Amino acid sequence: MPAAGSGTRLDSDRPKAFVELAGMTLLEHCVLGTLASGAATEIVVAVPEALVRPAQDLLAALLASADLGPGAGTAVRVVAGGADRIASVDRALAAADSPDLVLVHDAARCLTPPAVFTRVVGALRAGAPAVVPVLPMTDTVKRATGTGPTGGEALVSDLDRAALRRVQTPQGFDAAVLREAHAHQRSDPHPAATDDAQLVERLGHPVEAVAGDERALKITYPIDLRIARIHLEESPA
Ligand code: C5P
Repeated sequence: MPAAGSGTRLDSDRPKAFVELAGMTLLEHCVLGTLASGAATEIVVAVPEALVRPAQDLLAALLASADLGPGAGTAVRVVAGGADRIASVDRALAAADSPDLVLVHDAARCLTPPAVFTRVVGALRAGAPAVVPVLPMTDTVKRATGTGPTGGEALVSDLDRAALRRVQTPQGFDAAVLREAHAHQRSDPHPAATDDAQLVERLGHPVEAVAGDERALKITYPIDLRIARIHLEESPA
């Protein structure tokens, strides 16, 4: 669970995973949601180095006090994250036991409903090596190619919206495939990689989609926290 982001875009004085939403940090919401899905036998959370101990304390108190449903007994561990998301996942992966399947789930997508986890795990168990939850694109998307006549960005319209998808997490992988992809990333870094599916795809493995969910939004800007509050009011965890 990568949770080592800064929270700069959230205008917060604390790292994003430690920002509060309805009385709990995003990290606690995310761990509880993952446990409630019953999809994990072990959770490894990557947080900013200085917050490893506070995160351990926070999560120990949460596990001791909350009703964990199907997640009762699941081990939750905390490691120091890296300079970017991929590095944080790499560190969490290094600290994980050796399961057959791995889910990589952003702490920032802390309201992801259990059904999304179920769909990802279902496709993995059916034999897909890499699975991502997606939603359709609603905006028209253009590609920036340089500078326009008056100094603004020059744009071209060569992307077919009907074929584009917004990708969420949890992303699910055959563990051997994900470990191979991260080893390749370490030896030959893809500087613009923003998710794990990209790394796996680079090695020639197919990436398959299942339906995502609007409640799995990535909390990035202050407005996203407000939207998340509305989702919580409409369907409390
Ligand atoms: O920055 P962004 O919103 O894309 O981050 C996606 C996820 O990756 C968040 O859950 C964030 O905490 C995590 N992240 C991380 N380590 C970093 C940067 C981001 O674990 N160095």
